[in-house]
Amino acid sequence: MRWIQADSESATIHDVKFNSASIREKTVVLADIGGCPVGFCQAVTGRSLSDPLFVQMIAVVPAARRRGVGLALLAAVASSEPARDIVMATLDGNVAARALNEGFARSLGLAIRRVPIRSYRRSEMGFGPGEKHRPWLIARA
Ligand SMILES: CC(C)(COP(=O)(O)OP(=O)(O)OC[C@H]1O[C@@H](n2cnc3c(N)ncnc32)[C@H](O)[C@@H]1OP(=O)(O)O)[C@@H](O)C(=O)NCCC(=O)NCCS
Repeated sequence: MRWIQADSESATIHDVKFNSASIREKTVVLADIGGCPVGFCQAVTGRSLSDPLFVQMIAVVPAARRRGVGLALLAAVASSEPARDIVMATLDGNVAARALNEGFARSLGLAIRRVPIRSYRRSEMGFGPGEKHRPWLIARA
């Protein structure tokens, strides 16, 4: 995870202890090509059964982009919670992430829509008070 974070412009680089805790406490899916780690996706579920799955981070190293890895990672985390809606927060200017999320919703045959920032806790969406991410919702019901 640390190598991928270091190679991905919008990911914070965390130490091994922090990443190990994420793997223990959250859903973390790792993608590799030929044994080389190329991407990961991290998600958490809300506290109640009706809460969504929050995709907190997805990152693919530049050399492996536009090969479907991001889409495969989202499909993998989403399939771990097939009944929950999916919330993903992105910066408005992150063209790749927004296009990926739209493509992912299309691949499920579902719509994606922007929801008010106060709909969910920032900690669940995976960003802090100073960050300007905005949440998007894929409703599965
Ligand atoms: C966003 C990111 C994860 C996409 O990963 P990826 O493996 O390249 O995505 P995919 O190959 O699965 O792309 C699926 C679709 O998303 C869209 N897409 C992905 N990157 C795009 C880009 N740079 N510009 C426009 N559309 C893009 C395309 O529709 C693409 O399908 P296509 O290649 O058939 O046209 C990757 O660019 C990344 O790691 N960025 C830096 C980290 C980041 O910003 N993460 C999101 C914030 S949480």
